[in-house]
Amino acid sequence: MIFSFIMTNDTFDAALERSKKLEQDIQINPKKYKVLTGDRPTGRLHIGHYFGSLQNRVRLSKMGVPTYILIADYQVLTDRDVFSEISQNTKQLVIDYLAAGIVPSDEVFIYPHSYVPEANQLMLPFLTLVTNAELSRNPTVKEEILVSGLKSVNAGMYMYPVHQACDILFCKGNVVPVGKDQLPHLELTRSIARRFNEKFSPESPVFPEPQALLSKTPSILGLDGSQKMSKSRGNAIMLSATEDETAKLIKKAKTDGERFITYDPENRPEVANLLMIISLCTGEEPQAIAERIGDGGGGMLKNVMTEALNETLRPLRTERTKLESSPDYIRQVLLDGAKKARKIAIETLDEVRRVMNMEI
Ligand code: TRP
Repeated sequence: MIFSFIMTNDTFDAALERSKKLEQDIQINPKKYKVLTGDRPTGRLHIGHYFGSLQNRVRLSKMGVPTYILIADYQVLTDRDVFSEISQNTKQLVIDYLAAGIVPSDEVFIYPHSYVPEANQLMLPFLTLVTNAELSRNPTVKEEILVSGLKSVNAGMYMYPVHQACDILFCKGNVVPVGKDQLPHLELTRSIARRFNEKFSPESPVFPEPQALLSKTPSILGLDGSQKMSKSRGNAIMLSATEDETAKLIKKAKTDGERFITYDPENRPEVANLLMIISLCTGEEPQAIAERIGDGGGGMLKNVMTEALNETLRPLRTERTKLESSPDYIRQVLLDGAKKARKIAIETLDEVRRVMNMEI
């Protein structure tokens, strides 16, 4: 990944340190914060999303932190030509969120950003606060251009991080749970907030500079042992998979030639990854699981994993099936969310117009 060359460990460690402090303060003052988080509607979620971000969102919302979950449907247009499934994917995301334990309320809602025109309108002043050079050196954007194989790159690709600033700032979100790849976008959002305040409202800032909350869960590798679990690489276990499908996928997972099971992420990444997934399900340390399996070998490791994962996901999957048969309810959740987001966006846009001296 290009990104790892650009972000030094020092910078990352500093971000991690800040994130830990933030986590502690959220526990003490949940109402001081507003979490804004989001996904692109490119498909259903897999267990990597579940352990990496979804569980965390559920936890924060249950702690009483206002939590807004945005579905970045416009962003899908930046790196692919296919748009026929956006609406379907949006609804599948909602089903995954609800099944995982997100409970919509006045302080917790889900909506597609395309339904909030007043938030999107912040794009125009925000674009005047960043330079072309800044946009074209964003390491995550560069990486995405490379991966997408796009022959010519549309301007939306370079500008979507500014749109992400609109996503976060329209509601004055001050906490963004992110993975490492999203840190450059958050850095840009912070710059936009700071520059906006300095230029238009130096006496009393309009926008907060949101902070990154980094996931504590180590990222999960694909079942083929490659760097990232993703549906497009065919190495993922979807939350919506049946128990049988889950068992079959795990049976095919890559391990190594050594029979005796040990937890050694450095030298045995594939085995360590499976142990880590079991650990995320059971709460037991991966070393202890490895010791218990030991001579049982790869076969036993996979049986243990199948059982642990299917058991952990069973309530979610039962709920998922119920939600699948309530499309009207899913649509209503999105419409309600959009309505709540819009109310906030209208107020913010009014304030922004006022400080920019554009009120008539
Ligand atoms: N860029 C994010 C991704 O690719 C999705 C996203 C869009 C987002 N707007 C956001 C994430 C606002 C957090 C906050 O996954």
